[in-house]
Amino acid sequence: MPSSWIEIDLGALRHNYQQVCRRLHPATRVLGVVKSDAYGHGMVPVARELEKSGVHFLAVSKFWEARELRSAGIRVPILVLLGLEPGEMEEAVRLQVRPVLFRPDHARELSRAARGRDLPAPFHLKVDTGMGRLGVPWDRTQGFLEEILALPGLELEGVVSHLAVADEADKAYSKIQVSRFRHVLNLLSRKGLEVTYAHISNSAGVLDIPEAHFQLVRPGIMLYGSSPSREILRPADLRPVMTFKCKVLQLKDVPPGSPIGYGRTFVTQRNTRVATLPVGYDDGYPRLLSNRGAVLVRGRRAPVAGRVSMNMITVDVTGIPDVREDDEAVILGSQGSEQITADEIADLSGTISYEIYCNMGRHACKVFLNGLDSA
Ligand SMILES: Cc1ncc(COP(=O)(O)O)c(C=O)c1O
Repeated sequence: MPSSWIEIDLGALRHNYQQVCRRLHPATRVLGVVKSDAYGHGMVPVARELEKSGVHFLAVSKFWEARELRSAGIRVPILVLLGLEPGEMEEAVRLQVRPVLFRPDHARELSRAARGRDLPAPFHLKVDTGMGRLGVPWDRTQGFLEEILALPGLELEGVVSHLAVADEADKAYSKIQVSRFRHVLNLLSRKGLEVTYAHISNSAGVLDIPEAHFQLVRPGIMLYGSSPSREILRPADLRPVMTFKCKVLQLKDVPPGSPIGYGRTFVTQRNTRVATLPVGYDDGYPRLLSNRGAVLVRGRRAPVAGRVSMNMITVDVTGIPDVREDDEAVILGSQGSEQITADEIADLSGTISYEIYCNMGRHACKVFLNGLDSA
């Protein structure tokens, strides 16, 4: 075992998936967002566990991720949230991977690929209802549809949009987005186009906006055990899936006046016991936690003393009895009755839990626990 590692609790993932399902009308299905290596949790094992738990759809951001899922034997439909490059379309059609479509030239390419393969090419129309990012503007969908619907081989399977502020307490703007989304669905309906899947809800939509659920919801962060924000009105009972652990590499007793780490930003005020841990900003531990963060050792909080380096941090364990070299330290997660959450680390470093998970999740060593296979 290396000196630092990430544990992924697949039992917690299944629990969180059930929490999503509990919020839904029985006819609403779940699309699990597993892009960006499942927010750092390991795309293939997470996708496998979700598939076994009954997830209906998965989403990634890029085609190569979908290809990797298919190579690993994942069979549920996969949506590519950034769409496809022209050179990827034939393979995507063969693998029955669905892109979002928002550009007529991409639609023409997809149609060509479908005809080349003699297979239908299902796609999801990406509509911008007010996020201002990707998608056909909601009030211009009619023109877009007229341009693409006559193209042979294309199959309009879904309509997708994204909520910009669903995680804020004030839901007024989200409701405007939902009503624009309904406007697009009505337009399709008037044209005789009934889509199988309309979807606009991220985790915040799942939790707080039942009228935004439609046939499919697209949670990401809540599957991984974090709330999208502290403003959520109806939080769920979620369990963190990721724990980041390491061993104490060295213990040192130093007198008052000893500088610790780069820049000598921490100087001991008393006789101090310093533990050096083999985790740094290269492992996703933000440098902004220099002299601000804490880790858990022997079930107690040990403050970060000095700067976070690339591969190490130093923590003050003076008040903690019986600490030994090789003791397990928890960087993210629980030990005894104490917990360090991704939200705590995110708050201290001016970001969100999503980024903390993605960065820590790049760690080379992941251990998967409590999977259905290992039961
Ligand atoms: C298009 C889209 N749908 C759904 C999600 C999932 O959002 P969340 O993780 O907040 O549930 C994301 C995440 O960024 C996204 O980009």
